[in-house]
Amino acid sequence: MPPIDRTRLKSLMEREQKRFVNEHPKSGALFERARKSLLGGVPMHWMAKWAGAFPPFVREAQGAEFFDVDGKRYIDFCLGDTGAMTGHSPSGTVSAAEQQMRRGITLMLPSEDALVVGEELQKRFGLPYWQFALTATDANRFSIRIARQVTGRSKILVFNWCYHGTVDETFITLADGVARARRGNIGPPVDPAVTTKVVEFNDLDALEQALRTEDVACVLMEPALTNVGIVLPDPAYHAALREVTRKYGTLLIMDETHTICAGPGGCTGTEHLEPDMLVFGKAIGGGVPAAAYGVTEEVARCIADKIALEDCDTGGTLAGNALSLAAMRGTLQKVLTPEAFSRMIPMAERWAEGVAKAIADFGLPWNVTRLGCRAEYLFAANTPKNGTQAHDAMDFELERFMHLYAMNRGILLTPFHNMALMSPVTSKEDVDQHTRVFREASKELVA
Ligand SMILES: Cc1ncc(COP(=O)(O)O)c(C=O)c1O
Repeated sequence: MPPIDRTRLKSLMEREQKRFVNEHPKSGALFERARKSLLGGVPMHWMAKWAGAFPPFVREAQGAEFFDVDGKRYIDFCLGDTGAMTGHSPSGTVSAAEQQMRRGITLMLPSEDALVVGEELQKRFGLPYWQFALTATDANRFSIRIARQVTGRSKILVFNWCYHGTVDETFITLADGVARARRGNIGPPVDPAVTTKVVEFNDLDALEQALRTEDVACVLMEPALTNVGIVLPDPAYHAALREVTRKYGTLLIMDETHTICAGPGGCTGTEHLEPDMLVFGKAIGGGVPAAAYGVTEEVARCIADKIALEDCDTGGTLAGNALSLAAMRGTLQKVLTPEAFSRMIPMAERWAEGVAKAIADFGLPWNVTRLGCRAEYLFAANTPKNGTQAHDAMDFELERFMHLYAMNRGILLTPFHNMALMSPVTSKEDVDQHTRVFREASKELVA
């Protein structure tokens, strides 16, 4: 197929922008008002990146759908970019949180829910000891601090085009093999090359080379990259990576915040991984801010040896609050259950099959990948092996068109790439509606 005709793409985009503005007068008016009190007219600056001229303002969300203030219904495949992977306001989370709201929200003292959550996480991930945070970003930051403290080493290692939240050390990329600050690195305290090494995912030689100097406290990684499209590990990658990290005394932190899509214990559960530390944020609270990080027996012993009680200070006053813990208990026990995954994963298979068929039928040079209940299409003919290949396939203009086209037809994808996530209540009809809309968009692009 010849490359996408950019003139045609521009005119299709203009048509879709007009339609969006015409059909969202109330959101448009709220946005104009918001510009007078909110930076960029949005509560979080990146929300200005939604593909429409302004974001649709939400009236209410339930399960796998939401309605905007203009009365339009959307099937939600973005699901808060995983924060609402449970579906919106799932009853198991809401009833646990509602009860706790009336009995105290923040205490700086433990409640019994903390144990229940810790015990559940032990079963899922195999790590014995747990701590809590409010966001995955914070859980990653706290884990890195601990890793540095217990190893006495200053550097960390991440993979090219990873994302772990707004953790300063991770905003680094490889440019022609040289590590340097990545675009979007806002207000870095120091050049990230001082704190961080970066190598390509699936490249064991580069990893070994970087760890050989024994100055790296931890590797912080997702078991599969999910934030630049999905990049899956080669079959023997994880076993070899674990061996290399152990050989050079580097701790391995698995960030399962997105890869929880693989199953109730994330990839650590499905692939029998053996991280030293593990982070699970976003979906763990069913939408209520919460995150957890776990450590092995050995790391726990090192923490006891290297961090005196008087000096303990990872967490913050609100982390581990009673409300978040109740929400985590409700979510883990009643919502993100093994049974829920057995419904979510087949929906993602169906979504990926529908998209793959459309790609083939319209001869588009794209591909689709899937990890558990998360699926994604990428603007490249072959599945990527590393972050660079996935990043090279990104096409901002085309991406915005696909997103806006879908949004105008009642489908929400994640705003940053082409990801779709299935909740426990996402239905076949929801998935098939996406397939229909994706086919229509593809047809218009190649016409
Ligand atoms: C793998 C991963 N870890 C951590 C985070 C940070 O999550 P939060 O923004 O909720 O702190 C993200 C956010 O997208 C993520 O994708």
